[in-house]
This record gives sequence, structure tokens and C-alpha cells, in this order.
Amino acid sequence: MTTLILAIETSCDETAAAVIENGRALVSSVVASQMEIHARYGGVYPEVASRQHVLSIVPVVEQALAQAHFTLQDMDAVAATRGPGLAGSLVVGLNAAKGLALGADLPLVGVNHLEGHIYSAWIHDAGQTPPPAPQFPLLALLVSGGHTELNLMTDHLTYTRLGATLDDAAGEAFDKVARLLGLPYPGGPSVQKAAEEGDPTRFKFPRARLEGTWNFSFSGLKTAVLHETQKIHSSGKTLPVADFAASFQAAVVDALFTKTIAAAREFGAREIIVAGGVSANRALRETFKAQTDFPVHIPRLSLCTDNAAMIGAAGYFRYALGHIAEMDLDVQSTWPLS
Ligand code: KG4
Ligand code: ZN
Repeated sequence: MTTLILAIETSCDETAAAVIENGRALVSSVVASQMEIHARYGGVYPEVASRQHVLSIVPVVEQALAQAHFTLQDMDAVAATRGPGLAGSLVVGLNAAKGLALGADLPLVGVNHLEGHIYSAWIHDAGQTPPPAPQFPLLALLVSGGHTELNLMTDHLTYTRLGATLDDAAGEAFDKVARLLGLPYPGGPSVQKAAEEGDPTRFKFPRARLEGTWNFSFSGLKTAVLHETQKIHSSGKTLPVADFAASFQAAVVDALFTKTIAAAREFGAREIIVAGGVSANRALRETFKAQTDFPVHIPRLSLCTDNAAMIGAAGYFRYALGHIAEMDLDVQSTWPLS
């Protein structure tokens, strides 16, 4: 039996829609990015984001269905991100999903955005033999602009949060350090690009170990970068931006990798998932692919940053397990979900 999910994601600055078959096969995925609009503010401007979602949501959904060669009536359910994210942005996608579900008499499924990132690891191209699905128990490292956490997954939709960042998220640290170094928004890709020409051993930036916990901390690292840049500025020398970027990136990758592997061993995980915007980082991907024997699932680049395909994948497993939402479903930020 084939189950088709139409999924919608509008939690931040991307208006996205996708069609996913049986939770894994990517039939279509459309992402309308607002990056250029927000770049002039140096970050996401929430009011502008909501207005852009209102303008884009209908054409983006129409495009996702058209690219999939399906109509709304062919769908089995409509899934949408209900949080966490910007409330004014979330309501646009969630209400669009409610309208579509009501109009076509389809079930509505609410998906947590972080859960969506994790489920991006299940996705493969439609028409291809599916690669083996991630095996439980698995450890999911979630690294995005707003979150950095380790979750143990013992089954579908069953998460135990082992630890999280005590201050900045990894992506937030990339974005803030990019600003310190005078690199353009969005910070993650800019730091990665600058780092390619740099020496990762030039500066010995701190790695907060937070022994005895599964938490992370990146604010000390950010402050260390700030102090080092101030020293160089006051000496009148030019900032070695590439070395700063490479040394900072190495410290983040080291902190994330070391703790994830230790947790995977401690909790007997069979496999590891690395997901969220920062999982697009080349140094992080290469480290996880090369330096551990654990099987590691990292989504392809287009599925690392925000998209609706991941919401369709998680939405399918919710739908299949009977998690159907009422029409009064509201935006929600708590996590893990019950
Ligand atoms: O998952 P995402 O698209 O949005 C959130 O849910 O937050 O993550 C966005 C974050 C931003 O902080 C961005 O700078 C970071 O992911 N990011 C990267 C890279 N690409 C995106 N960080 C490091 N290296 C990258 N290549
Ligand atoms: Zn995200």
C-alpha cells in the first residue's frame, strides 16, 4: 500500500512543501528561501518572515504537488510543523495545512521541527531502492540554528533527551563568530568557506567538556574568539580570518563529535544520526564519516537545512502510528513530544 503525505514547513525563514511516499521516498520538495531578504538585516526578521510565508505558501504547495504529478485528492494526509520556531511563521504553515486538510477531507498531522530534522535521515529518492533504514537504538545529534542536543531513540517517535546546549546552539555560535570575523550572513556556510584556507591549529580555542553530563556549551568558545580578535585589532594587525574560522570550526566539531561518540557507547546505540543545519558542515560530516566505526547517517546537503521533506517523513510515522491532530491544533514548542 502506498501512503502519500503532503508536508508543509514554515518555522523560520524557509517556506517549504514536499510530497513523501511511505515515509522515506522523496517525490517532490520545494523550498522558497527568504535568505536574501533577511541578509540585509544580518539575521531573520520575524515580522518580515511571516509576511513572506503568506505570499509564498500557496505557490510553494502548488509547485510541490505539480512536481510530484499528484493532486491534493491523491494525498493520504497533510503534515505541518507545529514548533518550535517563530510563532508568526508557524501559524501560516499550520493554518494552510488545516485549510487543505479540511477542504480535501484529509487527516492533519502535527510534526515537531526537531523530530523532522532527525527523520531527514530516513529519506531517499523516489524510484530508487531504499538504503537500509536507521536501526534502533540510535543516537541522534541534532545541530541547528536554535538547538544542539543529543537524543536517544529506542523506537519510532520515542526520544530521550540526554543533553543539550546550556547556552548557544552550534549554528548560533557559527552565526555569531561569522559576525565577529566580518563574514556575511548566514554564518555557517561563510565560516566553512573561510576555514578551507585556514590553519585549524593556529588558535587553541577551548572545548567545554562538561564532564559527567551530556550537555554542550559554546559561549566560552565564542568569547575566546572575541578576546583573540580584540587582541589582534588592538595590535593594529590584520585579522587572520581563515585561521580564526578553521580553529573555531575545529573546536565545535571536536566538542560535538567527542560527546556524541561517548554517548553512543554509553547507551549502547547501534547507529548515529547527525541532522540539522550544522550537519551540512563539511568538516563535521568528514569527521563523523572517517573517525568512527559506528554507522553514521547524515542527510544529503539539501535536507540538512530546513525543508518540508523531513516533515513529511516524520509526519508519515506519526500518521502510521495514529497520531492524528484535531483541527484546533496550536503551535507548540515543547520537546520531546509525548
Ligand atoms: O536547521 P536549520 O536550517 O534551521 C534551524 O532549525 O535553526 O539550521 C540553520 C543553522 C544556521 O545557524 C546556519 O549557520 C547553520 O545551520 N549552517 C551551518 C552550515 N550550513 C548551515 N553551520 C556550519 N556549516 C555549514 N555548512
Ligand atoms: Zn531547522
